[in-house]
Amino acid sequence: MSILKVARMGHPVLRAKARPLEKSEIKNPALQLLIDDMVDTMYEYSGVGLAAPQVHESVRLFVAMLDEDGRGEGEATVFINPEIAPGGDTVVEGWEGCLSIPDVRGRVPRVQQLTVSALDRDGKRFDLVLEGFPARVVQHETDHLDGVLFLDRMTTLASLTYLDEYSRYHARRADADDDDDEGDEEE
Ligand code: NI
Repeated sequence: MSILKVARMGHPVLRAKARPLEKSEIKNPALQLLIDDMVDTMYEYSGVGLAAPQVHESVRLFVAMLDEDGRGEGEATVFINPEIAPGGDTVVEGWEGCLSIPDVRGRVPRVQQLTVSALDRDGKRFDLVLEGFPARVVQHETDHLDGVLFLDRMTTLASLTYLDEYSRYHARRADADDDDDEGDEEE
């Protein structure tokens, strides 16, 4: 297994629309290795999500940590050819970061709840209903498959901040009650 090089903002692969994977491709050892390497790469950089275009592969695949509090604990979930259906009109704003836009954070509106339908690494379909931070991660990663970066989703750039200043002025305090401020991690 290897740690992969992460494409940074400006690389055209991050702006391309990724192609769906054929079911027959999923069992391919090269694709299985890509999945393992993406998980390792996400862990290496303490990310909570990583999409294939971020490692220069323009296919509809991402890996993500779906724990509620956004600490990136537990096991990675693999999503192939994901489709998102919003679970209502409620939109919440929360901090996001991106491994392809290092050390920058901004507040992004996302739907609070969604259903995601995807194939797992064995090519089996699964559906998940997600809410809050895991729903945010899945929206961020699915955007990567369409060449969309979180900056594109910000309604204003006024909250844009470097990580040091984020930690100093905006990071969640222990007593804060806003449960959607999970900006320590990158996706
Ligand atoms: Ni990202």
